[in-house]
Order: sequence, then structure tokens, then C-alpha cells
Amino acid sequence: MKQDLIIINGQLIDPRLGFIKDADMAIKDGQILKIFDKKRITEKELAKYEPEEIIDAKGCIVTTGMVDIHVHFREPGREDKETIMSGSQAAAAGGFTSVCCMPNTTPAIDNQETVKFVTSLAEKGDCRVYCIGAITKGRQGKELAEIGDLVKAGVVGVSDDGDYVQNPEVMRRALEYSSMFDIPVISHAEDCQLAGDGKMNESYESSRLGIPGTPAVAEEIAIIRDIKLAGLTGARLHIAHVSTAGGVEAIRRGKAEGVKVTGEAAPHHFCLTDKMIGEKYDTNLRVSPPLRTEKDRLALIEGLVDGTIDCIATDHAPHTEEEKDVEFDHAPPGMIGLETCLGLAITYLVEKGYLTVPDLIRKLTVNPAGIVGLEVGSLEVGEVADLTIFDPNKKWVVKESKIVSKCKNSPFIDMKLKGKVKATIMGGRVTYRS
Ligand code: DOR
Repeated sequence: MKQDLIIINGQLIDPRLGFIKDADMAIKDGQILKIFDKKRITEKELAKYEPEEIIDAKGCIVTTGMVDIHVHFREPGREDKETIMSGSQAAAAGGFTSVCCMPNTTPAIDNQETVKFVTSLAEKGDCRVYCIGAITKGRQGKELAEIGDLVKAGVVGVSDDGDYVQNPEVMRRALEYSSMFDIPVISHAEDCQLAGDGKMNESYESSRLGIPGTPAVAEEIAIIRDIKLAGLTGARLHIAHVSTAGGVEAIRRGKAEGVKVTGEAAPHHFCLTDKMIGEKYDTNLRVSPPLRTEKDRLALIEGLVDGTIDCIATDHAPHTEEEKDVEFDHAPPGMIGLETCLGLAITYLVEKGYLTVPDLIRKLTVNPAGIVGLEVGSLEVGEVADLTIFDPNKKWVVKESKIVSKCKNSPFIDMKLKGKVKATIMGGRVTYRS
């Protein structure tokens, strides 16, 4: 259901055209009808529009709807953790208007029927949901999935996320095949043999805590191999959740050599380190790839700053309380991330002086959209009204009771953050308001 809306008192930041201006905005039939940029809308004009809702965006930024290219919505298969509907609601609460679902569902998204199933469920959801198809059948790493069929059904990329494609020959074919459709192959870069049975970063901390470690080199080698293969094939490679300094450096070098490689960082990797695990053994800190050292965290931020890391993606990975209420080694990897992403990014990147707000917006809108080939509109008349409105200065505390996602596996609960979503609008419909 589309609504007629007026957004008043906000500051518009357009990541595509690069403008910043104070202006009001009228939305009708899902599109931007008018921008009041010469002067703010008058009482008289406001009355004439008879909007169903007026959003007062005082102190807020109004920008293009945020895009998360890495979420796990668990449907089909584990609807107790998240459904397409609940995930889309969590996305809207986090300010996102588009997300891409990873294919590690049961069954895996490796065929047209599953893609159609997910996209049909998304029709009634609170954000646009796109599918990433599996690289290999059943995500087994052996036989390529029918990538052409998946593309026909609408997938915007392929990935065996959760697992690395160990066989380099299979990865080479995947890159060749995908390049025919100009979609990215998204790599969960972690050499299995080197990673072994690791449950956290291999470091002084893992030895101290007696938890098996996975070395940084497992990621670095995997990234370097895939960049070599992308160079060979001319295909587009995207590295998911980069977590190591060596990984950032490998991508930097790949880009300099002209390889079509992009990278993403998850908020938990640029906010947290392995040192925090020993404080409470919080199983919500168990993620794959694992939290690394302070040196890696800072290298990741440097990568975000210099453009080596193109975008921020949450790797929103819901797991139930029962599954996480075990010893650290036994907990499944992953934490939810959609609803804390913006606040963490503002608190850890903007407040610390690493990124400006417009830089951050690019990393959450046009850059991720570009990687998977999604169109992002600008803040102009006639464009689709997919918008995120947020207050960059609003301080808030992450409260478990307020989490929209079905699962609450976040180590950020009770943390104070700065920067909060005020409203999310998808196709002219308010999907979230705080
Ligand atoms: O921590 C993670 N959890 N990393 C992944 O790659 C997969 C994800 C999941 O599906 O739970």
C-alpha cells in the first residue's frame, strides 16, 4: 500500500548525484513528487497536499534507501530463526530498503523454484528481497549449480557463503560462467584445511582461552587464490566479510592490478576484536570468519577509508537462544546485525573521524547496490521513493525487547550507540518509524 507522504525539516544527502541540501519532500504513488529546495513547504501548500502522514525529519538526514547485500533469512528450512517476513521487518527497522539473501538455507537456493519461493514470500515484506544463488549444487563445492537458470529466475550474484569453494577448478568455472551474465561470484574466503576446527581467531587469545583457533592466513590465502582466478577469467569477484589485514592488502593489490574485485566489511569486524571473547565467553561473539586482532580491525577501517573495502554488509545471521546457550566452541557462528548496523557504523566510523556521513552513506547504498547490479534512485522528482531517514546524533541503547528480528543473538545488547533510524520508506510506504 503506497501512501502520500511529506517529509519536512530534513537534510537531503544524495549518494548518487553527490548533493547535500536542506529540503522538504512530497511523495505520491510510490515516487518522489516534489522537492521543496528553494524554500521549505508552507502551511498552505502542506494543506493542499493532504498527505496521509507528515514525517518531521528535524535533525535527520534523508537519503537513498540502504542496501545490505549479505543477510541470512533462514527460509526455507529454519523459520524458527527468521522468515523472509520477519527478516524484512528487521531490515526495515535497521533502515534497509533492499537486502540480498544468502543461499545457505534448507534446501539451498540452488534452483529456480527456491528463488521463486523466496521472492514470492518477499512480495508482502517490508523491504525488497533479492536472492544470491548457490555456486554449487547443494553448496557442496563439487558440481556447479545451473547458474544460467538461477540468473533467469532473478539471482543477483552467486555464493556458497558459509563455506569456501575449496576446489580451485570449480571456482574457476564458476567465475567463467558468472562472467557471461555479469554477476559477481561472492567468496566466503577461508581455506578449510588451514581453518581446521577453529572456533575463534588463532592468536595469543585462543591459546590463553584454550579454544581452537583459525589462522588469519586461512582467509588471506583464500582471497589471494580467488583474486588470481578472477584475474585469469576477467570475472567479477566479491569478497564477503573481510576480516584480516592481509585480506585487505590482497584486495588493495588486486584492485591496483586491475582485477574486478570488491570487498565488504561487517560491522562486528570493524567494531570488535578477539580480546573480547575472554571477558564473558559470549557465544554471540562466535562468527565466521572470526573476530580478529586490533591490527586487523584497524586495517579493515583503513580499507573502508581508502576505498579498498567498497561497502558495509551485516552478515545478519540469526541463531536461536538454545543454540547459542552452549559452550563457546559448540555455538553456531553468526550474529544478527541489521538493526545495529547504522548505529555501529556511525559510532565506530563517523564519530571516530574515519568516515564522513556522506562517505558512510555511499558504503551503505550506491556501493553495495552497484556490486550486485541493483539500481539506486537519486533524490529527484520521479524517482522511486526508497528512503532512509536517520538522526546521526541520536544516542540510544540497544534493547533486547526492541529487536524486531526473531532471534536476539547480538553482543551489542545494552550498548550505547549514536545514530538511529527515524523512518524507512520503501516504494512510498513507511516500513518503519521510531
Ligand atoms: O558467522 C557466520 N554465520 N558466517 C557465515 O558465513 C554464515 C553465517 C550463518 O549462516 O549463520
